[in-house]
Formats: sequence, structure tokens, C-alpha cells
Amino acid sequence: MTTHPMTGRVVLITGAAGGLGRAHAHAFAALGAHVVLSDVTDPAAVVAEVTAAGGSALGVVAGVDTWEGSAVSVAAAVEAFGRLDVLVNNAGIIRDKSFAKATPEMIEAVLAVHLHGAFHMTKAAWPHLTERGGSIINTTSGSGLYGNFGQVNYAAAKAGLVGFTRSLALEGARAGIRANAIAPLAKSAMTETMMAPELLERLAPEWVSPLVTWLASDGCTATGNVYSVGAGRYARVATLEAPGVRFDHVPTIAELTEAAAAIDDLAGAVEPRSLADQIALVAPPA
Ligand SMILES: NC(=O)c1ccc[n+]([C@@H]2O[C@H](COP(=O)([O-])OP(=O)(O)OC[C@H]3O[C@@H](n4cnc5c(N)ncnc54)[C@H](O)[C@@H]3O)[C@@H](O)[C@H]2O)c1
Repeated sequence: MTTHPMTGRVVLITGAAGGLGRAHAHAFAALGAHVVLSDVTDPAAVVAEVTAAGGSALGVVAGVDTWEGSAVSVAAAVEAFGRLDVLVNNAGIIRDKSFAKATPEMIEAVLAVHLHGAFHMTKAAWPHLTERGGSIINTTSGSGLYGNFGQVNYAAAKAGLVGFTRSLALEGARAGIRANAIAPLAKSAMTETMMAPELLERLAPEWVSPLVTWLASDGCTATGNVYSVGAGRYARVATLEAPGVRFDHVPTIAELTEAAAAIDDLAGAVEPRSLADQIALVAPPA
């Protein structure tokens, strides 16, 4: 029997005219949610697909790169369906170039869509999400988590989303808002020319969307987490702090050189979940 655990929920997905956003829209609609598809490219074709499959969908042509465009998307969702429960910040662009050759325009355009876009959308959505609690899913990237040649702009924006997600999780807890991030790998317009066809074949975006719907679901308690996802693999990503080395005097370069291997050694590392956790590691109460 088909269950519809998201019946009555309103889910706003940015960048939903294709790729991962399209797959997320189908997945949420199949679970009974009203989906709002917002994109600078008209998402009408995806709206038609979702509706044809029996889902409830609304399309909005608006950009996340401005406060105004983002407010339009959120207002359209609330006007059409009366509430907002889930925000999926998914819209994205790439302007790849090595750091030495990247122009200010290439850097600013990428920050505007990925990082500022998440601020714009989340700011507009926040008052609605606080009404009954809600879920925010941001889209980071392996580039942001681990680095990638030629993607300094994109990597910085995507890494920014990790700090954004973790701090939102802390601030949202009292209002019942959970915030998590995914680092997907999927075949899309964005990756079609970046990855080998044999690899892309294994990376259907439909493998990613179940994680997003799970993160948004009532039973899920995850918050402040980051997940690596693709090709049927689902794995949490963590930032760890090694036990480190403590000196009782200000160390010299020679002493740090000698201690370097121990400073780098992750054996016994722990996962701080906030700045307060780091403070407790660095300067534990005397
Ligand atoms: N596909 C991957 O392997 C992969 C890997 C890591 C991260 N991501 C991230 O996943 C997200 C989805 O990417 P995708 O792979 O589906 O690519 P995609 O190019 O198919 O989709 C991105 C969508 O965002 C829209 N968009 C661009 N600028 C916008 C703006 N200013 N406002 C609103 N919409 C805008 C585009 O029109 C497009 O429909 C992106 O944030 C991307 O960075 C993808």
C-alpha cells in the first residue's frame, strides 16, 4: 500500500526546473506534499510532469540571487498552499576557472546564487518555518567539503553552506526547525560535461532525493548534519578535531615541527557540534 507521509506539507525547492531539483520535486509529490518549484528557468515542464503523475505542484519563475526574487518564491508558496514546511536550497550554477584566472564576475555570480541565495531564501522562509517547525535542506558539495581544482568560487560558497547549516541547526532547535546539508553526486546539466559517461550512468538524481525526503520527514531527528550521497550510497560527513598536543609554554617552530605528526594524528579524534564544543576542547575548565 502506498503511504503519503507528507500529505498537506508544503515543500519549496529552488532550482527545480531540472536535475536534482526535478527529482526532489517528484519524490516529495509522490509522498503527498504540495511542491513549489522555483527557478530562473521556467519550471513549467516539471510542474506538468508532477501533476500528470498525480502530484500537486506550483511553478514560480524567480531567482534566489536576490532578496526580492526569493521573497516572491516564498510568498507564492504560502499564498497557494497556506503554509511552508520544508525548504530545499538546491539552485546552483558553476563558473569554473583556476583561481589565478577567475574574474570578479565569476566569483561573485557563484557566491550570489549558492551562498547568498541560501541566505535570501531561508530568511524569507524562516518566519513560516517557525510556525509549526520545519526542515531546511541545503545543498553543499564535495568541492566545498574537500576542495576541487578550478572551483575556488564554488567550493567557498559550498563550504559556507556547511557553517550556515550548522549554525541554523543550533538556532532553529528551539523552534523545531532542523537544518541539514547534502553533498550529492548526480547526473545533471551541471555535471554532464564534467564526468565520464560511465560514471554519470550510475549517478541518477533519483538516488539522492530519498535522503532529502527522509531529512524532511517527521520521524527524522537529524540536524546540523552533512551527508555524502549518490549511486545508492548514503553516508554522514563529519568535521573532526584530533586530540592534539598541548604545550605548557609558547612553542618554538622547532617544537611544532617535532610535534607535527602528533598534531595531525586523528586517532581518538572527536566531533565538535558547536563552537562551544571547540572551546571546551581547547580550554577545558581548570
Ligand atoms: N550534480 C552533482 O553531482 C552535484 C554535486 C554537488 C553539488 N550539486 C549541487 O546540487 C544542486 C543542483 O544541481 P544540479 O546538478 O541538479 O544542476 P542543474 O544545473 O541541473 O540544476 C540547477 C538549477 O538551478 C537553477 N538556477 C540557476 N541559477 C538560479 C537562480 N539564480 N535562482 C534560481 N534557480 C537557479 C538552474 O536554472 C537549474 O535548473 C546545485 O546546488 C549544485 O551545486 C550537484
